[in-house]
Amino acid sequence: MNVKLFGSAIIIASLYFNAPVLAQPAPDYAALIEQAHQKFKSNADGKVADYIPALATYSPANFAITLATVDGKIYQTGDVKKAFPMESLSKVFTLALAMEQHGPHVVLEKLGANATGLPFNSGLAVELTKGAPENPLVNAGAISTVSLIDAKDKTDRWNKILNNLNAWADATLTVNEPVFTSEMETNQHNQALAALMASYGSLYGDTDEAVEIYTRQCSVDVTVEQLAKMGAVLANNGKSPFNGKQLLNARYVPQVLAEMAIAGLYDGSGKWLYTVGIPAKSGVGGGMVAVVPGRYAIAVYSPPLDEAGNSVRAQQTIHYVANATQANLFMTR
Ligand code: DON
Repeated sequence: MNVKLFGSAIIIASLYFNAPVLAQPAPDYAALIEQAHQKFKSNADGKVADYIPALATYSPANFAITLATVDGKIYQTGDVKKAFPMESLSKVFTLALAMEQHGPHVVLEKLGANATGLPFNSGLAVELTKGAPENPLVNAGAISTVSLIDAKDKTDRWNKILNNLNAWADATLTVNEPVFTSEMETNQHNQALAALMASYGSLYGDTDEAVEIYTRQCSVDVTVEQLAKMGAVLANNGKSPFNGKQLLNARYVPQVLAEMAIAGLYDGSGKWLYTVGIPAKSGVGGGMVAVVPGRYAIAVYSPPLDEAGNSVRAQQTIHYVANATQANLFMTR
């Protein structure tokens, strides 16, 4: 048999047996996350957030990793049973709900898709743009996103947001009440951001309601497994590999991932994209999730944060696993 005929025979056989042609072997995810855990577990760099007093009570030693694939497999190691507040991680999924309700044009026009180059709770950023929050992942933009959700009243707004988080996590999530109370008592900065946006017409409902519901969504507890499952929805074109529900129109997934690439790590976002090359999102509770479209999501929990408010060991772990699996989106595989 000549070479051409032999090649055709392989392709026909692989179609017949429904097998991928020249499939690359799947990486050994279990071994990789174990290696990352070993490599970074004794790194004590960073500082646990304390501007929300309840967050200061979390142990800096907590360290957990889960990787969830688009075909519904879970690999995990470390303190995977420890729950932690989502904080800014929640912003991604409420953005997805706003995108589903209003479409990407409204999101771009009202919330934006630009880096602020300033800290995540910057009032200066809002002032410089005369109220435009620039993106839905900084605090101002996330509060505005909450106000954009179509709802009959406050209860309905909260129920829609929580039900959406539950569907993405494939779980029944709950609010961490001590964290919620602690953040509500020390929330003057977010109230100021909301008032500033309201004065410029970029808040789309009651100011106090938007801040309270934003704070409540930030206080929802997740485990690293639930967070990885949420990320896997984005990796899988908006459909949960775990409950089979289409949670976000597949056409809108690239816009949500673009917002994560632009601002998911705040003023650390550019360096992250430059060095790792995949969209990710952090929260000051110490959680972080990154998405490799068509392949997997990886979530890490480790409370000590860098200056920009991103978990130090989560960034190291995801960087390590992304490199080992050739996940950089700007690279040809
Ligand atoms: O509004 C805040 O400041 C917090 N609820 C969330 C901030 C946050 O997680 C920033 N993330 N890295």
